[in-house]
Amino acid sequence: MKKTQIITTVYEYDSIDELSKEDQALVNQAKDAAHRSYAPYSKFNVGAALLLDNGEIVQGNNQENSAYPSGLCAERVAVFYANAKYPDVPVKAIAITSRTNGSFLETPVPPCGSCRQVLLETEDRYNQPIRVILCGENKIRIVESIKQLLPLFFDKEMLNE
Ligand code: THU
Repeated sequence: MKKTQIITTVYEYDSIDELSKEDQALVNQAKDAAHRSYAPYSKFNVGAALLLDNGEIVQGNNQENSAYPSGLCAERVAVFYANAKYPDVPVKAIAITSRTNGSFLETPVPPCGSCRQVLLETEDRYNQPIRVILCGENKIRIVESIKQLLPLFFDKEMLNE
C-alpha cells in the first residue's frame, strides 16, 4: 500500500481589484448574468461568463424548473450555448458568481460535479485548459484548469484503454 496526495493549485485574491482587467471584465459579465437567472425555487442566482478564443464573451445563468432536475446550472447553460453557437472556438476562461438574499456571496462558490465534468469535456474537446475564476466578494479563487478541481477524472482516454 502506498499513500499519495493529489495537490490542487489555487490562486487566491482578496479583492477583484487585484485581478487583471480582462478577468475583472469577465467577472462583471458573470455578475450581470446572475441578475437575470431564473431561480424562483432556490432563490440562489448563479451567473457565469465564458471568454472564448475569438474574444467573445458568452453569459449563462441557472434556469430552474418546477420539476427540479429539469433545471440547469449557470455554467452548463453558458458552455452549451457557447458550444452550440461557436462549435470550433475554444473556451479560454469561465468566471462564476452567486447571489442570494439580494447580494453577492462573500465566499466563492465552486461549480457542482456535473458542471466540472462538462467543463472537462470542453477542455478535452479543444485541447486547451480553461481558467476557472470563482468570484466571491471577499475572496477570489482561480485555478488554471478544471482538472485542478476534478482529480482522478473520467474522460475520453478511459474509453480507449
Ligand atoms: N447552481 C449553479 O447554477 N451552478 C452550480 O455550480 C451550483 C448550483 C444552481 C442550481 C440551482 O438552480 C441553484 O444553484 C441551487 O442549487
